This record gives sequence, C-alpha cells and structure tokens, in this order.
Amino acid sequence: MGRRLRRFGLGQQGGTAGRQRMHARATLKARNVFVADRCLSIESYRQLSVNFLGLTRKMNDSHESNRAVWNGWAKWWGEEEDKKGIWNRCHRDPTLMLCATEMHFLANMRGKRACVLASGNNMVVFSLAGMGAQVTSVDISEGQLQIARERARSLGLDITFLRCDVTELKALEDDTFDAVHTGGGVDIWISDLWKYYAEAARILKPGGVFIVNDRHPIRRMFGGDPWDELDDYSNRGPFTYTSNEGFKAYEYHWKVADHIQAAIDAGCSLLKVEEHMESPTGRAEGIGGSSQDEKDSAADNTARFPSHLLLVMTKP
Ligand SMILES: C[S@@+](CC[C@H](N)C(=O)[O-])C[C@H]1O[C@@H](n2cnc3c(N)ncnc32)[C@H](O)[C@@H]1O
Repeated sequence: MGRRLRRFGLGQQGGTAGRQRMHARATLKARNVFVADRCLSIESYRQLSVNFLGLTRKMNDSHESNRAVWNGWAKWWGEEEDKKGIWNRCHRDPTLMLCATEMHFLANMRGKRACVLASGNNMVVFSLAGMGAQVTSVDISEGQLQIARERARSLGLDITFLRCDVTELKALEDDTFDAVHTGGGVDIWISDLWKYYAEAARILKPGGVFIVNDRHPIRRMFGGDPWDELDDYSNRGPFTYTSNEGFKAYEYHWKVADHIQAAIDAGCSLLKVEEHMESPTGRAEGIGGSSQDEKDSAADNTARFPSHLLLVMTKP
C-alpha cells in the first residue's frame, strides 16, 4: 500500500481510495493535461497559465475541486492525527514538529506574527502559538479549519483562522508577518507554485523568515507497481483521481528546481537548503508522513532517499 500511495503524498489512506488511485494511475498518462518539459518549458507553462483565461480558470477550478476533496477527508485526517497524538502536545514541545534548523530560524517568536499556509493538521500552528507567536492559520478547506478551531479551543490557544487559497491571499496585507511557514504535503495540491511563493513573499515583512518544509519531490518517483517502474521526474502533471466521496483530486509534481526558482522569482534570498532523511524520532511523521510510511520505507529502498526538502528564505 505504502509504495503506491506515497507517490500521491497520502500514503495513509488505503482501502477503496487506494484502489481508486491505483486505477487512476494506470490512466494518468492518458489524462495529463500538460506534458511538461517535453513540449513546454516551465516558463512557457507559466505563460500559458497567465495568458489564456480559460486555462487559468481551469487551474483555479482544480483548487476548488481539491477543496471539496479535503473537506471530504477532514474527519478521517483528524482521526489519523488523534492516533499520532502530537497535536495536543506540540504547543508545549515544538520540537515534536519543528526540526533543529526550523527552531533556529524561528527562535524569539514571542509576540511576533506568524502565518502558516495550507495549515492542515495545524501542528505547526500550535507549535508556533506555544512559542508565543500570534498565528494566522490559512487553509482552503473549511472542514480542516473547523477541526483545528476546536482543537485550538481545547488547548486554550488564540489563533486566527482564515479560509483562503494560498495562491490568492487577498485578505492578507503586504509585509505583515515575521515568519511564514508551509509544508508537510502542500506543494502537491498547488497548480501554480510561483503564485504560492509570490504570495508568501508578499505577506512576509522585509527581513522576515519564510520556511518551506515539504515532502521531497524525489519520493514521488518511487510509486510504481512493480517497484522497479520509475516515474518521470519531469512530469509535473496534473495527476487526477476520484476520492471516495466522489470529488476529483488534482495533484502536481513540482521538482526541487521549481521550488528554488519560485523562491528566487518571488524575490527571496535563500538562507538554507536541506534534504532530510526520514526522522528516526518520528518528526517527519508529524509533518505529513505516517507511521505506515516509515515502516514501509524501512522495509524498502525509499529509506535511502530524502523524505523532506527544507528551504529557509528571507525577503531582503
Ligand atoms: C497534506 S495537508 C498538509 C498540511 C499539514 N502539514 C498536514 O499534514 O495536515 C494538505 C493541506 O493543504 C490544504 N490545501 C490544499 N490546497 C490548498 C490551497 N490551494 N490553498 C490552501 N490550502 C490548501 C488542504 O486543505 C490540506 O489541509
């Protein structure tokens, strides 16, 4: 189960959804809208999204469809987080969620403003709030936010929740936050990585810190069945499948170079780029993997590849 589904960034969900994804994968190549790199450079790909109104609309519609998918998954996602039991402890011990590099750059957050984009389980949100930051938690799914709101209340944390698409943060003003954090399985849902980074940079104060700690793109190559069938690293998708609840999911496979280029194009200066292996302490589990993922990785070769890509940036 883990091998196949890790490719989609959701190794936890098996059963019918898993089988649906397996079926979906068999038809992915036929369904792809873009055959990136072969026909289009990334620059022309972006120009297309900007120039053709119809296509831009389609890409935004994919986010709306993903929103419905996440609303459908929110209850199950919350139950998975309950099993891990980190969300109700990380506000007291942020190292359950944040690695040494993140802790270093997020030191002294007391009284500062932080924003977590595509906040999902909100464990980074709770960690930052526990460190004394005033946190804004942004997610496209009202279902995800509702669970987070209830959890924040039970922990006595005062968080601002905002339902918003990370590529259109109109409700947030320029130069607002001392820190912006995102990751743990987010980039795969975003149709335009450049808009996502540009919006994050826009709301960041000059001199602030922008951290992306997401699943490492190389892991997505190893989802084939049989195991030795390697996926094409250059195929960004979109990859589509239908969730159990009947909503169409759109996933995008951004490359390491895309992340770095999007950061540069957003006007950010890179402070750190790190590739992390699966954490033996289970930290990687906290930011988007699963115990099952880790067991699978230990049993097969994926443990030899990095699980997370960490970028730390600032806005000059
Ligand atoms: C796999 S979770 C990652 C977040 C967190 N690390 C976690 O594990 O829960 C993906 C989250 O991204 C959110 N999301 C997906 N597309 C989004 C978009 N365009 N804008 C904002 N949030 C989005 C989903 O609703 C979901 O909560």
